[in-house]
Amino acid sequence: MGQDASMESFSSRVGIFQCKICLLFLGAGLGLKVTVPSHTVHGVRGQALYLPVNYGFHTPASDIQIIWLFERPHTMPKYLLGSVNESVVPDLEYQHKFTMMPPNASLLINPLQFTDEGNYIVKVNIQGNGTLSSSQKIQVTVDDPVTKPVVQAHPASGAVEYVGNMTLTCQVEGGTRLVYQWLKNGKPVHISSTYSFSPLNNTLWIAPVTKEDIGNYSCLAKNPVSEMESDIIMPTIYYGPYGLQVNSDKGLKVGEVFTVDLGEAVLFNCSADSYPPNTYSWIQKSDNTTYVIKHGPHLEVASEKVAQKTADYMCCAYNNITGRRDETRFTVIITSIGLEKLAQKGKSLSPLASITGISLFLILSMCLLFLWKKYQPHKVIKQKLEGRPETEYRKTQTFSGHEDALDDFGIYEFVAFPDVPSVPRMSSRTAPASDGVSGQDLHCTIYEVIQHIPAQQQDDPE
Ligand SMILES: *[C@@H]1O[C@H](CO)[C@@H](O)[C@H](O)[C@H]1NC(C)=O
Ligand SMILES: *[C@@H]1O[C@H](CO)[C@@H](O)[C@H](O)[C@H]1NC(C)=O
Ligand SMILES: *[C@@H]1O[C@H](CO)[C@@H](O)[C@H](O)[C@H]1NC(C)=O
Ligand SMILES: *[C@@H]1O[C@H](CO)[C@@H](O)[C@H](O)[C@H]1NC(C)=O
Ligand SMILES: *[C@@H]1O[C@H](CO)[C@@H](O)[C@H](O)[C@H]1NC(C)=O
Ligand SMILES: *[C@@H]1O[C@H](CO)[C@@H](O)[C@H](O)[C@H]1NC(C)=O
Ligand SMILES: *[C@@H]1O[C@H](CO)[C@@H](O)[C@H](O)[C@H]1NC(C)=O
Ligand SMILES: *[C@@H]1O[C@H](CO)[C@@H](O)[C@H](O)[C@H]1NC(C)=O
Ligand SMILES: *[C@@H]1O[C@H](CO)[C@@H](O)[C@H](O)[C@H]1NC(C)=O
Repeated sequence: MGQDASMESFSSRVGIFQCKICLLFLGAGLGLKVTVPSHTVHGVRGQALYLPVNYGFHTPASDIQIIWLFERPHTMPKYLLGSVNESVVPDLEYQHKFTMMPPNASLLINPLQFTDEGNYIVKVNIQGNGTLSSSQKIQVTVDDPVTKPVVQAHPASGAVEYVGNMTLTCQVEGGTRLVYQWLKNGKPVHISSTYSFSPLNNTLWIAPVTKEDIGNYSCLAKNPVSEMESDIIMPTIYYGPYGLQVNSDKGLKVGEVFTVDLGEAVLFNCSADSYPPNTYSWIQKSDNTTYVIKHGPHLEVASEKVAQKTADYMCCAYNNITGRRDETRFTVIITSIGLEKLAQKGKSLSPLASITGISLFLILSMCLLFLWKKYQPHKVIKQKLEGRPETEYRKTQTFSGHEDALDDFGIYEFVAFPDVPSVPRMSSRTAPASDGVSGQDLHCTIYEVIQHIPAQQQDDPE
């Protein structure tokens, strides 16, 4: 009837075949629309499963027919139930299993069994001004939920780095369609040169193990309806020693040299990364002999008990599982505080430290020199000159050789030999008259060196 009506509305030039296609299109696309939120629904065995269906139409309808069919691969489709208006006609074989409340087209399956897995087809027919029909297909899977996986490491006692292998197996008691994934510190583990998986991924092989493989491993097992993660397992991996170093609570460390002030007791601390923890031993070297002085990570050295000013030590770390050892040498230099420290350090320190030390020394020297030059000479000259017999000054002539050197470092010479008043010209010139230094004394003292000074001295108002 609807077909007839539709045909009338179309031009007679249009063929019947094309017309039918158009009608189908109109009927399905505009008149009636059946939709399902999801074409695949995963169900849990033993529970109820709800297959939601919506439909809508825009034509007046007298009868609404809903039919559910079930099909599995290689089997005949089965009729489950159907309805017209609000009356349901079930297949008597399944009447307790499938429920529908028309005009609501959704289907309830309860309880869900493995045999219920397959495709469910819903067909809706609207009888009004013609008949409109539309259908949808929903794929249903049925699974048992996953139980919590248990991970075991083999060998449980642990493996030595670069020597041993580690196998982690993931066991799950219950669950269907299981997919396994390995996590290390919460991130997926990927195949690499040392990691490989069994075909199902439920076994992880680490060959060989390295220190980098230490971590929190877990197995994630999942299927369409659930996922569970195992407890964390930390495989035991023996490694080391690595990064052996010696530190001290006091003293200055530069490279492998510790500078310690005399009288201080210094605690040395030897540490290296390893598992299990290393055993440490301390070895002292003197001349050609070495001897173990202590076992354990700490060594206390009382600087006053060290015979020489420098002593060579060695800390030796040994991992008795990996069988590997490492050792580091260091030197202890006992100093007294001050310039001696700088000087001694300079010998054995790095070039930078030496340069810094020497520079500091020079700067200090220059400062002292400058200060001395500015304030000291007058007083010294005054004191010395006032109280000395002439004979003593005569001695200065014997140091006349130094006077040539005065041109470059004369004042420095004066510092070195304060008893010898090899007075530089400059000081006498700048000496104020108020110092009470008599012109004659000065004349005598400086003698040949500055013969012209008396003339200048007479200019002074005295
Ligand atoms: C369905 O309901 C419509 C009106 O609501 C009625 O005309 C029609 O006869 C009913 N069909 C059946 C099979 O009961
Ligand atoms: C069908 O019924 C279910 C509850 O049984 C409800 O959640 C759903 O919204 C209904 N669908 C329609 C189209 O009314
Ligand atoms: C049924 O369809 C015909 C042609 O399409 C139309 O003329 C008629 O009005 C329709 N009847 C109703 C009740 O919609
Ligand atoms: C570790 O695995 C490698 C390669 O899989 C094998 O050659 C080696 O023998 C294994 N070592 C041990 C200790 O099992
Ligand atoms: C491994 O787990 C322990 C506790 O289970 C935690 O303290 C540690 O930080 C974890 N390590 C990493 C790398 O996540
Ligand atoms: C195993 O895991 C790898 C990556 O982790 C994945 O690409 C592969 O598909 C998995 N195989 C199986 C059988 O789950
Ligand atoms: C020893 O040194 C290590 C590394 O420098 C440090 O972690 C540790 O706390 C130190 N132990 C002591 C007792 O000083
Ligand atoms: C150290 O040993 C070498 C050779 O073994 C020897 O020539 C040297 O004299 C020794 N030095 C001391 C201080 O014993
Ligand atoms: C070293 O090995 C001995 C015996 O082989 C053991 O008693 C000791 O606990 C080990 N020490 C460490 C730090 O592993």
